[in-house]
Formats: sequence, structure tokens, C-alpha cells
Amino acid sequence: MKHILITGGAGFIGSHVVRLFVRKYPDYRIVNFDKLTYAGNLENLSDVEQCPNYCFVKGDICDSEQVEAVMRQHAIDGIIHLAAESHVDRSITDPLAFARTNVLGTLTLLQTARTVWGGDWEGRRFYHISTDEVYGALPLDGGCFTETTRYDPHSPYSASKASGDHFVRAFHDTYGLPTIVTNCSNNYGPCQFPEKLIPLFINNIRHNRPLPVYGRGENVRDWLYVEDHARAIDTIFHRGCIGETYNIGGGNERSNLALVHELIRTTDRLLGRPEGASERLITHVADRPGHDLRYAIDASKLRRELGWQPEVTFGEGLERTVRWYLANGAWLDHVTSGAYECYYERMYGHRA
Ligand code: NAD
Ligand code: TYD
Repeated sequence: MKHILITGGAGFIGSHVVRLFVRKYPDYRIVNFDKLTYAGNLENLSDVEQCPNYCFVKGDICDSEQVEAVMRQHAIDGIIHLAAESHVDRSITDPLAFARTNVLGTLTLLQTARTVWGGDWEGRRFYHISTDEVYGALPLDGGCFTETTRYDPHSPYSASKASGDHFVRAFHDTYGLPTIVTNCSNNYGPCQFPEKLIPLFINNIRHNRPLPVYGRGENVRDWLYVEDHARAIDTIFHRGCIGETYNIGGGNERSNLALVHELIRTTDRLLGRPEGASERLITHVADRPGHDLRYAIDASKLRRELGWQPEVTFGEGLERTVRWYLANGAWLDHVTSGAYECYYERMYGHRA
């Protein structure tokens, strides 16, 4: 029997991880601990909320009393830490919010785990989910991030995640806390908040709104379907080596402009519009400050040591993703209007 605390389980990636664990491990207790910021939406988990091995606790990782209470009440022996402020553009306008949750929140979680587990590490595990953005930017013409690439963050988001990663490793090296860190490339799929490129653009195509491409659109990202990330997290949580770092990536590099053309083709086809009808919506806007040119992950350590590899091709993942957003227009409308916040009230009887 394992009792696992998943932080940020109401967010995009966290909700896929919660669903996978609740369904795959009926003997585990899965506790979703989430503050329900603008990015947390319990509607993402409406299909598992009645499962007997699942429960939701509203709380803030920056609040050590709340974290300690949930850990003791549920006798937590494993933590999968996804809670974060996650959007680069927001970090540019409000960097302090990122330092609070991604640095101080992560440190609070580490310190509380250390206190509650009291030095008895047997059967315990603290798994921290991070990003490839901590490694900085690559040139367009080659190279990949490996687990030994030097950290070189450029945005307040990646700087805050890098700091969180360093604290996790420091707790392993200093106190022996049984930690694992993974650094993953850009995720896409259902339930991603429509501030990120793919869901924002699908929603804008749906409403015939402009598609704001930053700068020339030449920046490259390495895309991974979110369910493949959730499967990697499952593999690493159970079989990864304590103290290790693993890179996770999809091996699907696309320039933003190439991706936008692909997205337009798929979305127009599924909406029954003439091919390329939405091309006219592409609007080049001012570049993001400090915009990293290219990210690309070398995930060979994870493949070699633990046998994980992505199962969903980019074409298939994009098709599934566009279909999901078009079939779930109400979800998009709820999260863009703020109406989703009432879901908590309906389910739990008071406001989040
Ligand atoms: P998200 O923004 O969709 O979800 C974040 C979740 O954390 C939300 O449910 C939010 O309510 C919760 N949260 C925020 N602050 C909190 C706090 N103080 N206490 C408790 N809960 C809080 O993020 P995501 O895209 O699902 O990313 C999840 C994790 O994966 C993050 O750590 C992110 O850095 C990392 N990551 C994301 C990507 C990606 O492409 N989205 C890629 C690599 C790594
Ligand atoms: P995003 O989804 O914000 O992820 P990240 O910044 O973490 O990689 O952005 C993906 C890429 O798309 C990034 O190069 C910035 C670009 N982008 C745009 O061109 N326009 C947009 O409106 C957004 C949100 C992103």
C-alpha cells in the first residue's frame, strides 16, 4: 500500500498523472494537494473524483502547517511534486509569484517531508518534476540537453524552477532525503490552460481570432504528448534511482511557425473549413523578452536505463489534442470566462 501526495494534481500535467495513478493502482491512496490557482481546475478530474483511492485536499505548498497536516493525516510515503506557476509570459510580469511557489513552495515541501519522515527514508520518495528550460537555449543548428548540461536559465520561470531543482538536490546531498528530479520538454494535450501556445491557438482558430506568433516564429520546441509524460513519471517514480536526474522528451522538434501551420491544417479540417482558411489569422507580434531560441532533449538515459519511450507520434497527438478541444468547447469557455471556479463550489459546497 502506497500513500502518494501529488501536488498540483488539478493542473494540466498533474491531472493526467492523478488519473493514471488512480486507475492503475487501486491499492494506493492518491491525495491531490492543490491550491486551485487560475490553472487548477477540478473539472479535469471529474471522471475519477468518486474513486475510493482518490481524495482532494485544497492547500498551498508554501504553508508548512497545511503540508504537514496532509502528510500526517494520510501517512504519506511518496511525493510527486508538480505544483508550480508554469507560464513564462506570466513570470515576466509577476516574477515574485514564481519565486514564492516554485522556490519557497518547493523548499517548504522538502523541509516538511524531512520533518515528517524524521530521517527514516525507507520506502520514502520525493519526486520533483521540472523543465528542460533550466538548461537555457540551444543554437538552431544542433545539440541536445543531457542530464549534465550546465544550468543557464533565462526567464524568471526557468530561474525559479532551476532554484527549486537545486534545493531538491541539496536536500538529497545534505540530509539524504530520497529525491529524484526529472526535466521534461514542452507538453501538449487535453486540459492545458489556453494561455500556452497550442490550446491558445486552437481556441483562437475556433473563434476566428488572431494567432499571435512571437517574433519571426523561428523558435524551436521539442513536443511531448502529456500522457507519455505521465507514463514516464509512473516509470521513474517506481523504478528510478534515488539521487538521479532523468531528462524526458518527445524527440519532436518543430519551429513555432511550422507547428502553427500544422495546427491550422488539422483544426480547419476538423472544423470542416477549407484547407488553410485560418492561415490569414497568423499575426506576427513583438518577440517575448529573453525568448529562448531552441530546446531539444536527449532522453537516451531514460530509454536505456528504464526502457521508457514515447508511444504517441506527434501527428497522432496533435490530432487527439485538437479533437479534444473542439469536442470540449464548454471546458475552453469555462476556463477562459472563469466559470470553472464555481465547479469547486458545486462539488465541495463552498468557494475555493
Ligand atoms: P499548470 O499551471 O497547468 O498547473 C499547476 C498546478 O499547480 C495548478 O493546478 C495550480 O492550482 C497548482 N498550484 C500552483 N501554485 C500552487 C501552490 N502554491 N500550492 C499548491 N498548488 C499550487 O502546470 P503544468 O503545465 O501542469 O506543469 C506541472 C509541472 O510540470 C510544473 O512543475 C512545471 O514546471 C512542469 N513542467 C511543465 C511542462 C509543460 O510543458 N507544461 C514541461 C515540463 C515541466
Ligand atoms: P509556451 O506554450 O508559452 O511554452 P514555453 O514558453 O514554456 O516554451 O510557448 C511555446 C512557444 O510558442 C514559445 O517559443 C513561445 C511561443 N508563443 C507564441 O509565439 N505566441 C504565443 O501566444 C504563445 C503563448 C507562445
